[in-house]
Amino acid sequence: MNKLIHSSKELTFDLRQTPSMPLARQILMVRPTFFHVDNPINPHMRKADGTLHQLDKPKAMKEWEVLRETYVKLGFSVHEADAQEGLPDMVFCANQSLPFVSRTGLKTAIMSNMANDTRHKEVPALESALTRLGYKTEHLPARSSGTLFEGMGDALWLPGHRVLLGGYGHRTTQEIYGAVFGLVDATVITFELANPRFYHLDTCLSILDSQSALACKEAFTAEGWALVKQIFPKLIEVSVSEADSPVFACNAHCPDGRHVIMQSGAERTVSALKSHGFIPIELSTEEFVKSGGSVFCMKLQFF
Ligand code: ARG
Repeated sequence: MNKLIHSSKELTFDLRQTPSMPLARQILMVRPTFFHVDNPINPHMRKADGTLHQLDKPKAMKEWEVLRETYVKLGFSVHEADAQEGLPDMVFCANQSLPFVSRTGLKTAIMSNMANDTRHKEVPALESALTRLGYKTEHLPARSSGTLFEGMGDALWLPGHRVLLGGYGHRTTQEIYGAVFGLVDATVITFELANPRFYHLDTCLSILDSQSALACKEAFTAEGWALVKQIFPKLIEVSVSEADSPVFACNAHCPDGRHVIMQSGAERTVSALKSHGFIPIELSTEEFVKSGGSVFCMKLQFF
């Protein structure tokens, strides 16, 4: 039976015994043609002196191409949604939706209610792309201060299981998980995010497989951290110095339970990953970190 869980006391059963969900084998990306840092909506977008980061656009384009190629080399089919002028953050295409497969096998995506007005305009473009890819889309209650949801920025599947881990507190509201729970037909576990530098769950928790994850304690409340530890028997704790920008180690992406694509420079996290049997693939996403995003934000993994 599905449960909506908010505290470690309520988690009284083994999540690995829940019904299964297929693994996601496809990647969607948005080319950074109109990518900019001009609308500072998270703390990483400003330098220490308060001014906005300056982008090196050719370098951003190169970094994006290398990431795209990395997925292709790992055997993923990479699809592209068209970038749109005036939507500077659209390259971060993890945020506009939450794809899943229904119990009857229907590919479904819940479309986001993004916190920022400009970012919310990205949602229809991603909805058309997902529709073309064979998805049925679902919508949450009308967007208001209480119904915010930022897709796979905050809501992450436990690979292979009908279990969704949902962050809230900065971009997504806790109450919205009631509606999400009603749509996904899965167990949903919510986590309060306590630190504005880790404004999405994908900035402080990187799920590697159904037992393992990278996570940064300082991003969570005591209750949230108790849940993280309970869910992942093989947890790799990441220090704030490697989890915060400019390294953003917890925004790594493990697309296949084995390879971990990540911003380079997280020495201790890389060696911990190797000792747990993972294969880190380090690359540069420096230009995107200037906007508060790295590998995990720059793609949507779908079924
Ligand atoms: N500048 C973007 C924002 O603040 C970055 C989004 C990064 N995405 C993510 N999933 N963390 O919305």
